Amino acid sequence: MTEQTSQTPLQTEVKATFKRIWVVILGVVAVAIFFLWPILSNSPVDYANVEDHYKYGSIGSEQVNGVPYWIWKVLPDVFPDKLPGKGYDSLGFIHEPGKDLPVGFSKRRVFLDRVGLNCAVCHTGTLRETPQSEHQVIAAMPANVVNLQGYIKFVSEVALDSRFTASRMLPEIEKISGGLNPIQKLIYQYIAIPLTRDALIRQGNQLSFLNKQPNWGPGRVDTFNPYKAIQFHFPMDKLREDELIGTSDFPSVWNQKPREGLQLHWDGNNKSVDERNKSAALGAGVTPTTIDLKRLKRLADWLWELPPPVYPYKVNETLAATGERLFENNCASCHAFGHPKIGKVVPIQEIATDRHRLDSYTYETLSNQNTLYAGYPWRFSHFRKTNGYANAPLDGVWLRAPYLHNGSVPNLRDLLEKPENRPKKFYRGDDVFDQEKVGFVSNVAEESGKKYFEFDTTLPGNSNSGHVYGTELSSEAKNALVEYMKKL
Ligand code: HEC
Ligand code: HEC
Repeated sequence: MTEQTSQTPLQTEVKATFKRIWVVILGVVAVAIFFLWPILSNSPVDYANVEDHYKYGSIGSEQVNGVPYWIWKVLPDVFPDKLPGKGYDSLGFIHEPGKDLPVGFSKRRVFLDRVGLNCAVCHTGTLRETPQSEHQVIAAMPANVVNLQGYIKFVSEVALDSRFTASRMLPEIEKISGGLNPIQKLIYQYIAIPLTRDALIRQGNQLSFLNKQPNWGPGRVDTFNPYKAIQFHFPMDKLREDELIGTSDFPSVWNQKPREGLQLHWDGNNKSVDERNKSAALGAGVTPTTIDLKRLKRLADWLWELPPPVYPYKVNETLAATGERLFENNCASCHAFGHPKIGKVVPIQEIATDRHRLDSYTYETLSNQNTLYAGYPWRFSHFRKTNGYANAPLDGVWLRAPYLHNGSVPNLRDLLEKPENRPKKFYRGDDVFDQEKVGFVSNVAEESGKKYFEFDTTLPGNSNSGHVYGTELSSEAKNALVEYMKKL
């Protein structure tokens, strides 16, 4: 043994100490990675199947406006008294068997798992042949049963409630989550719950003008007023009363390709499918920095050529053939692809339907919209102020009831009646199909304890006036026309 190879006890001790320090450092790093990796990663839940992606996938709305997953999950348990029935389903959200979230809700991890909205919340609906049939979920049809205003009211009210505290909510979360890890627990207790409450209170205040509007009921949303309040910070209490209501029926969003270049949106204010998609994404809660363009493109590509669903019930072909001729003579010039007036705007004086939605979209809204996405290559440039409502293509129209931009006419047969003979009140939210009049059943107030929404056409924004085309035809001719429209 020589001097060079042997170590003094001190050297051995120093080396061992270093080793211990290293082990401790490595241990700390490993634990930190273990806990922090999921927190620091930003990862949406993805779906191989494109229809699932459409219904449950992310467009980026969770990142700023998302609600932390476990808070979202326990709200109905902590505040059952604030819902019309059991759980989120009582607001008409569509719950498919085996799925965690309802259609239209997506999940993404940004520090915590968060829940946001996607296109399907407003653009996916259900259909039943009879009250005994299963609900069939149909992507890209209007969300005929979803009560979005009910949801907005629910999250606003719970945020103001004294039960919205960590001490009340954490035990519920622990119960259904099977136990959070200690870091998650701290984050929920000191950050997620208080910040979510504040954000929901803020949003509730911004949207308090909704209390001045007639209720939307299922299947409708105010297109631009929430935008004005949340994105542009307009002083909503100072706006003209007639621009404060812009409640619109959800449209279908299939078959976008032949729509490119047409003036769409109910008032025809935009010709670009791509811009409409991006502006719609803003409505769902994305911001110019969080919009997930890759995932949005995936679903836009799918909608591009998605065919409208074929009418699944019986059609009287002889009657429909008569109806086809009537459609050609009375309706096709405005409503059929390839005709000169398709996708053009009919002035409000001529169409004479309710003008609130048109007036809610103001020059000021337009100029603010043009500043959104400023500095990005996809900045909006196609929005225009128009003077009426657009001639929309009627593909799949059988699934698009109630009709007109404000959803004020329950079925196609009633649309062919003179406005004074159309129903003054009817029910929305049922998905049983009315094969005779073509639309959803609208005269049933309640079914197995579930109350449908009474739509009152005398309230502001709800008028069923105008669009008198075809109303002078004979009753037989009207029946024939309706029979044909099942096939569009
Ligand atoms: C909050 C509900 C809501 C969400 C979420 C939503 N939309 Fe819409 N969408 C509407 C309403 C309402 C209209 C009609 C607006 C109007 O003209 O007043 C519309 C219109 C459209 C139109 C034009 C339809 C036509 O024929 O005029 C397209 C296309 C569209 N949405 C696609 C999307 C896509 C894609 C997404 C997701 C990125 C999306 N929407 C998210 C409610 C929504
Ligand atoms: C001069 C053009 C024009 C003619 C002709 C015309 N429409 Fe329309 N139609 C419109 C406009 C504009 C709207 C949108 C009005 C609104 O929503 O306020 C509309 C809306 C509709 C809707 C509602 C679509 C939806 O998704 O809610 C249906 C259904 C419809 N028309 C059927 C017909 C039928 C049937 C005929 C023929 C008997 C016809 N239209 C003739 C211009 C026309």
